[in-house]
Amino acid sequence: LPILLLNGPNLNTLGVRQPEVYGSHTLADVVELAERTAAELGFGLRAAQTNHEGEMIDWIHEARGQISGIVINPAGWTHTSVALADALVVPEVPIMEVHISNVHKREAFRHHSYVSPIAAGIIVGYGIRGYEFAIRRLAELVG
Ligand code: DQA
Repeated sequence: LPILLLNGPNLNTLGVRQPEVYGSHTLADVVELAERTAAELGFGLRAAQTNHEGEMIDWIHEARGQISGIVINPAGWTHTSVALADALVVPEVPIMEVHISNVHKREAFRHHSYVSPIAAGIIVGYGIRGYEFAIRRLAELVG
């Protein structure tokens, strides 16, 4: 079954929003890197980004039984959304949480994650290469 790559709010602006924090790569670059990595490991990849929390939650519900694991950058919802964390347990697959920036050297409100307690692993501060590492780890966990 494929790996599901989910990106949360504002990540459609990667490369434009605060490049000093998030780098100059775009979301298209992230998806390409993820597809390449998944393919190398023998996995398909489904990728989606939304700025709408309910839409993200619906996708996660619909993924139940359809995917082998989830790589997610929940972006701002990391720090705010009990609902997203609740949804992520529905598919009953390993979840890898990715943050492009090192959230722990930023504002205190970015230090807490609602997603981390249900994540199999967390990758923080490796830039977009974090997505690659997350896919490699997921393949290891489900392979
Ligand atoms: C982020 C970190 C979050 O705090 C922030 O709200 C984002 C992106 C990251 O990838 O570093 O939008 O998840």
